[in-house]
Amino acid sequence: MSGFTSFTYQHGQLYAEAASLVDIAKEFGTPCYVYSRAALIAAYQEFDRAFADHDHLICYAVKANSNLAILNMLARLGSGFDIVSGGELLRVLKAGGDPRKIVFSGVGKNQDEMRAALAAGILCFNVESEMELLSLNQLAKEMNKVAPVSLRVNPDVDAKTHPYISTGLKENKFGIPMTEAERIYAAAHEFTHVHITGLDCHIGSQLTAIDPFIEASNKMLNLLDHLEKQGLHIEHLDLGGGLGIRYSQESPPSIKDYVTALCNSVGQRKQRILIEPGRSLIGNTGLLLTRVEYLKHAPHRNFAIVDAAMNDLMRPALYDAYHEILPVVKKPGDVNTYQVVGPVCETGDFIGHDRKLNLTKEDLLAVMSAGAYGMSMSSNYNTRPRAAEVMVDGDTAHLIRARETIEQLIASEKILD
Ligand code: LLP
Repeated sequence: MSGFTSFTYQHGQLYAEAASLVDIAKEFGTPCYVYSRAALIAAYQEFDRAFADHDHLICYAVKANSNLAILNMLARLGSGFDIVSGGELLRVLKAGGDPRKIVFSGVGKNQDEMRAALAAGILCFNVESEMELLSLNQLAKEMNKVAPVSLRVNPDVDAKTHPYISTGLKENKFGIPMTEAERIYAAAHEFTHVHITGLDCHIGSQLTAIDPFIEASNKMLNLLDHLEKQGLHIEHLDLGGGLGIRYSQESPPSIKDYVTALCNSVGQRKQRILIEPGRSLIGNTGLLLTRVEYLKHAPHRNFAIVDAAMNDLMRPALYDAYHEILPVVKKPGDVNTYQVVGPVCETGDFIGHDRKLNLTKEDLLAVMSAGAYGMSMSSNYNTRPRAAEVMVDGDTAHLIRARETIEQLIASEKILD
């Protein structure tokens, strides 16, 4: 899945698979996230096939998009899951995910979350510090269980991506330093209620080159060989997520090339390979549908004020991220250069800068590549109910999350006497 193959123009109108986005906006309102079922299946299968006969498990990074319908679809395809909270654990279990295919990442797992994951019988805890290991051992002991563990090691590799989403440099908060890894593995081996099963890393997100992945993989394999020589048996190597997608001019490696390169670096070793893709599975399978509320032609700039805002799609405000913005209905006539902005009271509330569009009030726009870290990072800022989510399957659009109501937003608040 390298482009928006499931979103195409037919007679000048944008479709999701065979469903008209004009009709979807009419039925479900805007702003609305729209996903293509076929595109998600295709992306998953591209990953799966690329491993050929190397033993593997794809653990979808739930944080990218945690809608139950999406998790359920992936579970049905055989996917595993990478979770980072008790909430995500509950979602995966509720969506029919197999607990024995769940890995639990994150620097700050709390005791309740660890207990819940131990009770569920997950595949592995990706442990990020010595203190966490001690805590986990203690909790497992109390529960009369043995926790399967992998240490997340920080390979100190420059992912060459946005600094906020780069995680594998030694100055980042993530993982155990390479220099400490052997000592902590040896210590973990002595613990009575943890069982070492794997080795793990994740160097960052939206990587558009293959080299940093291979550099990290080689460092991890070097460590793996050392550990095995010392008699530690490592069952799996988890190489994290991070494969980038095309938002604009980027040319990330294809899923197939990326997986093949990982498999080649692992070579003849027998360890099962785990990966934790989020964005590359779901990013280009979704868009955000929005409607133009007002046009404002100021002396120096033209503004298109749309009904989606930074609370719906935070990526532009937070990372200065680019998302392509397409008209849902193409029309002839001159284009203007617009600042596409939302109704939220912040200058940082923009969806796109300097976009060449021909717009009139009430036009529909599609904000592309919004399947990953769109809905999952949305908020209720400005007391804005979160958007609806729709999954298209052929010519049918299914509502997979109803638009929030304002009553729901304030239901748990309380005025004091
Ligand atoms: N595994 C771990 C341990 C992670 O922390 C992440 C993402 C992934 C896997 C999945 O990475 P992916 O394949 O999606 O690149 N909100 C940011 C992205 C933050 C990524 C955080 N960790 C954005 O909108 O670009």
